[in-house]
Amino acid sequence: MAIQWYPGHMNKARKKIKESMPLIDIVIEVLDARIPYSSENPLLGQLRGQRPCIKLLNKSDLADPLVTRAWQHYFERERGVKAIPIMADKKGEARQLIQKISHVARTLLRDRNFELKPARIMIMGIPNVGKSTLMNGLAGRVLAKVGNEPAVTKIQQGIKLADGISLFDTPGMLWPKLEDEDSGYRLAVTGAIKNTAMDFEDVALYAAAYFIKHYPELVMARYKLKDLPEDGMSFLQAVGRRRGALRAGGHVDLHNAAEVLLNEFRGGQLGRISLETPDMRPAVTA
Ligand code: G4P
Repeated sequence: MAIQWYPGHMNKARKKIKESMPLIDIVIEVLDARIPYSSENPLLGQLRGQRPCIKLLNKSDLADPLVTRAWQHYFERERGVKAIPIMADKKGEARQLIQKISHVARTLLRDRNFELKPARIMIMGIPNVGKSTLMNGLAGRVLAKVGNEPAVTKIQQGIKLADGISLFDTPGMLWPKLEDEDSGYRLAVTGAIKNTAMDFEDVALYAAAYFIKHYPELVMARYKLKDLPEDGMSFLQAVGRRRGALRAGGHVDLHNAAEVLLNEFRGGQLGRISLETPDMRPAVTA
């Protein structure tokens, strides 16, 4: 699979994170709630060492709430880890979110008997999980209180949340899980990785097969299907016919149908769908 991440990029990113880690008391990893396993950075667990970690399951408005709860339990089995479902782009929630993060951060530090000195939190995550949306939302809230410095300056200086807790942005992006084929597909289905050599129609077929297996009612309702298609290809064909994605001769234009299905999934029009559950992690990482 051709991707934007090469070993050189990864080494550079890893080095930057390693350098900044000693300055950090708590790590926040922003994940996509629809793919909490696949949107984790494969090395962050190792890089953060014993530091407490808050996993923010963002875009929870798009994910299956029951599955999100299962992920929360799964992550919180690990000592020093808390998971919180969030919607970073929801207006008017920043204040509660600041309170929640500050509270969880303090609890984690106390559990670890860490000194309650001013604590520094760093936000990390792979591209497209919503880090900027989150930082801007939180900075906007703080800015509204303290003055009119541009949000970007505030973010570089760190955002003061509460009681000496400050939040910093990652010095560099983290790379996604690319070694696992299913993770590659799921990242592509959500749109987290673009410009891959992965065939667009293959990605949609992967999604189509998954949707009819795990969310049959949602897709049948959305595309007004009487019967559940037998496989991903029949489903994609049905989507194409339903949406008039046809070429001359009445054949379904698969590329068009693929676009419809993926766009409707990404926009949440299919309903709240998670692409993986804790049980679906590869056995090797269990
Ligand atoms: P990043 O810094 O981690 O790279 O992510 P960024 O904030 O740029 O967010 C990526 C996309 O995710 C943005 O959409 C943003 O609006 C969307 N997003 C962030 N938080 C949420 C959320 O809680 N729910 C939903 N539904 N969407 C969220 P975009 O600008 O349209 O980008 P794209 O989708 O065109 O890539």
